[in-house]
Amino acid sequence: MRILGIETSCDESAVCLIDAQGNFGGDFQFQVLGNSLISQIAIHAEYGGVFPNLAKREHARNLVPLLEQTLRQASNLCQGDALTNALTKTTTEELRILLSREPELYEHLIAFLQRNVRPEIDAIAVTVGPGLEPALWVGINFARALALVWSIPVVAVNHMEGHIVVSLMRYDDNSQFAIRNLQKGSIQEIQFPILSLLISGGHTELVLSVKWHDYKILGATRDDAVGEAFDKVARLLGLPYPGGAELSRLAKKARACSGACSEATPHCIKLPRPMLHDDSLDFSFAGLKTAVRRLIESKGPTFGDSSRSDLDGFKMQIAREFEDAVTDVLVAKTMKAVGEYGIQTVLVGGGVSANSHIRAQLATKLSSVDCKLLTPPVELATDNALMIALAGYFRAQNREFVTPDMLKAEGNLKLK
Ligand code: KG4
Ligand code: ZN
Repeated sequence: MRILGIETSCDESAVCLIDAQGNFGGDFQFQVLGNSLISQIAIHAEYGGVFPNLAKREHARNLVPLLEQTLRQASNLCQGDALTNALTKTTTEELRILLSREPELYEHLIAFLQRNVRPEIDAIAVTVGPGLEPALWVGINFARALALVWSIPVVAVNHMEGHIVVSLMRYDDNSQFAIRNLQKGSIQEIQFPILSLLISGGHTELVLSVKWHDYKILGATRDDAVGEAFDKVARLLGLPYPGGAELSRLAKKARACSGACSEATPHCIKLPRPMLHDDSLDFSFAGLKTAVRRLIESKGPTFGDSSRSDLDGFKMQIAREFEDAVTDVLVAKTMKAVGEYGIQTVLVGGGVSANSHIRAQLATKLSSVDCKLLTPPVELATDNALMIALAGYFRAQNREFVTPDMLKAEGNLKLK
């Protein structure tokens, strides 16, 4: 089955076409035929966070060029001068109504359909939540428009299931993985129950699966998500948005500097480990950010002044202690859940799973109890459309198709 994945839940516009066969298990195989992504990070950076209406406008601008690029890579797109039979006068009018809120997307799509014939695609998978609703709607309306002109079915994908599924895969030649490379893959050998630690800009969750497509949320953050905390602390340190990866680089530098605690390298900075000894599997990261703010305020109003290089060591040590504190809590709660639920396989997914320190600490602790750890290739930890195509494939296998008119953006969609 050839399935087209569309992702627009936040600030990445992405389209991916895969060819997949088999069921969830040993006989499953996929090949990436085309994969394209445009990150809006630079556009949102000046606002210090994602601006929903700007994200919506950019998705509307990006989707058709991404689709065209993806299909070119798949090289099953024939160029034609004449109108194809996909685009009749009636469909053009229906598309105009369907995309009335995305006029730029409508213009691009009509021009695309005039240039190109219908590609060989069996189904469309689109993210319907969780995420920013104005952004999600652009992807959904795009999926509805393509389903209409090409007469193909649609499956609705939960973005978090995408993060889970992409971590379950085995990628041929994993070491050389680059998102634009065309890749083949299969599924890892998995023993249920699986515990998923989902850590992203919007989520921090421990999820139990006793079988495929079955989810029970064991614990979640009570305030900020872990990625959100990384980004907010990075901002306090004067790093550009989204600062998660940058903050982690600073922490790594600090770990490489040994030596006694001094004004320049104050190893003695100590931050709290919120809810570490709490009975629940919940998390809380807002207090950690406040603790960092207080430390920074103690340095006086010139902290943000980039010319004050005397504070570089202090910033590095804050980054290190913050990353250590977050990691300690994530690892402790994961190990608690592993013990309580007899977990055989832990999977980590979401943008923060790109973090090498968190990965290393999880790997060490889990290997001591003979538990398998699954991680996504770093390039696929953050949002992409391959994860949506893969998750959508298994839903399509179950024939969980949705009437396109019934598709709806659900900002707070839960795994269930
Ligand atoms: O999954 P994702 O791409 O988007 C959401 O669904 O939220 O996650 C983005 C988050 C951002 O907060 C970003 O700062 C964080 O993942 N992130 C990292 C790293 N790489 C990305 N956080 C810590 N360390 C990293 N290496
Ligand atoms: Zn995500």
